[in-house]
Amino acid sequence: MTRALVPGSFDPVTTGHLDIIGRAASMFDSVVVAVARNSSKAPLFSLEERVEMLQAVCNPWPKVTISSFHGLLVEYAVEQQASVIVRGLRAVSDFEYELQMALMNRRLNSAVETVFLMTGAEYSYLSSSIVKEIARLGGSVEGLVPNIVGQRLREKVSKP
Ligand code: PNS
Repeated sequence: MTRALVPGSFDPVTTGHLDIIGRAASMFDSVVVAVARNSSKAPLFSLEERVEMLQAVCNPWPKVTISSFHGLLVEYAVEQQASVIVRGLRAVSDFEYELQMALMNRRLNSAVETVFLMTGAEYSYLSSSIVKEIARLGGSVEGLVPNIVGQRLREKVSKP
């Protein structure tokens, strides 16, 4: 029984994240999506909002649960009895930072393995940051985020 953790800021969840979560769900017995509480980036959505949106859109996958964490990711992996951390790679430009993080996490706890999954090519240019910028500037985010997230984004950016 292998449990995998899919960590991230998810501010907000995109269709690219869902692609990775779905791939992880088809590979592992259970998947815990772990939303980072203490992200160094100032989030647009509160932790509760990010968790709630993920819960709504991951509902079709019975083996996927949503949670949040603060502190070290590897410590949270142990707490959740997860032996694998899954990270998505979009392009070569992601690799350097991801390698650094994976090797540091291994140094902190060698029993937790990081696995990289390649996103579908159609998501390779997608990120939460770029989606937020498009929404702020009034562009369409259809297809980039799930519909309920698009709705929440529009509400968020339209507030004065
Ligand atoms: O979606 P993101 O912002 O790329 O996710 C980054 C995240 C949250 C996975 C990473 O910052 C993280 O693991 N933070 C927890 C703190 C930690 O364990 N830091 C050491 C990792 S080397």
